[in-house]
Amino acid sequence: MVERQGFNLTMEWTCTILAVAALVFFLTWRTRRTNKRLPPGPRGLPILGNLLMIGTKPHQDLQRLARKYGPIMHLRFGLMPVIVVSSPEAAELFLKTHDLVFASRPPLEASKYISYNQQNLVFAPYGSYWRNMRKMCTLELLSNHKISTFRSMRKQELDLLVRHIREAAYSGVAVDLSSMVTSFSTDVTCRMIIGKKYDREDFGEKGFEATVRETMRIASAFNLADYIPQIRGLDLQGQTKRMKAIAKDFDDFFEKILEEHVESKDENRTKDFIDVMLGFVGSEETEYRVERDTIKAIILDMLGASMDTSAATIDWTLVELIRHPRVTKKLQQELENVVGLNRTVEESDLEKLEYLDMVMKESFRIHPVAPLLVHAAREDCTVNGFHIPKAARILINAWAIGRDQRVWTDADKFNPERFVESDIDVRGQNFELIPFGSGRRGCPGMQLGLTIVRLVVAQLVHCFDWKLPNDMLATGLDMTEDFGIVCPRSEHLLAIPTWRLQA
Ligand code: HEM
Repeated sequence: MVERQGFNLTMEWTCTILAVAALVFFLTWRTRRTNKRLPPGPRGLPILGNLLMIGTKPHQDLQRLARKYGPIMHLRFGLMPVIVVSSPEAAELFLKTHDLVFASRPPLEASKYISYNQQNLVFAPYGSYWRNMRKMCTLELLSNHKISTFRSMRKQELDLLVRHIREAAYSGVAVDLSSMVTSFSTDVTCRMIIGKKYDREDFGEKGFEATVRETMRIASAFNLADYIPQIRGLDLQGQTKRMKAIAKDFDDFFEKILEEHVESKDENRTKDFIDVMLGFVGSEETEYRVERDTIKAIILDMLGASMDTSAATIDWTLVELIRHPRVTKKLQQELENVVGLNRTVEESDLEKLEYLDMVMKESFRIHPVAPLLVHAAREDCTVNGFHIPKAARILINAWAIGRDQRVWTDADKFNPERFVESDIDVRGQNFELIPFGSGRRGCPGMQLGLTIVRLVVAQLVHCFDWKLPNDMLATGLDMTEDFGIVCPRSEHLLAIPTWRLQA
């Protein structure tokens, strides 16, 4: 019996390898035959293509390759053609000039299992379903009006964060700022989307935050089956099994949340995102076709898209501020002028804080938390004279663009003053700086994200002076990135706070 199983497995492998080899031969032959000019790029190995050239920091490896092969580069990951875009001019061609062609996402394995078969917004392919959901999210969940209804909730959570840090300041002990900011971001996101906060006990043994994070990790982990679909069934890395298990956990949890919302009789509470979406289920008056699975997919989407992006941005900015005391002093001076030392920062102060705006732009430039924007070509297209084949994966290297030496003087230096008298903004109109993407697939949560990150950074710099523990020098801070869909710093930031307000 065991022998027979072994034989079957060997046969399966042999057939797979032969099938893959035949397919590679066919694809290579077909591309050569069409005689279309692909963008330049390094030669790849049979079957694996250029996969072995990419390590644990793909954005950095791709930047290095682009220096040699140019801003529009062709690679092959397994059997998949990949086009890497690494300059502002090239990004504009893909995200503006030909935006409609490249406004889709590739069908990744993770999106099948984790996001209800691509029924969420982040992973959905371009089409009427995505357009419908995008419209609903933009108009009903993330509009300026809707965001403003959560203003007092954000204030409550931020006051709580400041209170906890202030207690530590009295005892003169270091706090784990990264963990505190992450918990703040999780709580704010959960209250806005689900209506309440969650903690360890609410989600089995692991706890809510850790489970969402693990989902994000699995979703961004390298999966060979995404590049050689023929071996999908073998689940060589065991990822499908893990994704199915985690998806089941989430589904049970979301079902419980939906039931609680359906049964809730409290008419006076602020409507969270689930209430809004439930209002569309089965309604004749709405154009949105929302079903239970849609709501569950969108909840996970919003949690994943919002929690980590904001937390990682705040964390990188605080680290840079600690490394650059001159910038911190200047920012504190601006806060003193605009807010004064008798009170904390309010959201209404933000528009008057010009230097804060420059600090945030510089942080987004040098540490875009989504370093690679992943799109897919919906049809064959010619860009800059190069043939871009249908279904090619498009990787826009926002990280490399933010550090492009041709565009930015001293690109590796953190220097907010570079934005003095500059019109460059982060909102997707200037392709030198695209931390939120641009065009049809650009971030719909940008306004909310910007509000949260500016508010938290301003508050933590206004209320406290920060010092590293154990007389550590700021130059000793490890700036290594932890690559994923979101790219935080790999080490937690520990720092000792001192209260600086008079109130
Ligand atoms: C500092 C915070 C944030 C940053 C830096 C950020 C960045 C991004 C980026 C780079 C993209 C991909 C753009 C592309 O592929 O071209 C994206 C997409 C997305 N973001 Fe954000 N984001 C942030 C906050 C948020 C928040 C708060 C929400 C919602 C609550 C959100 C929801 C989404 C969604 C749903 C998408 C997918 C859009 C689509 O595919 O149509 N983001 N974000």
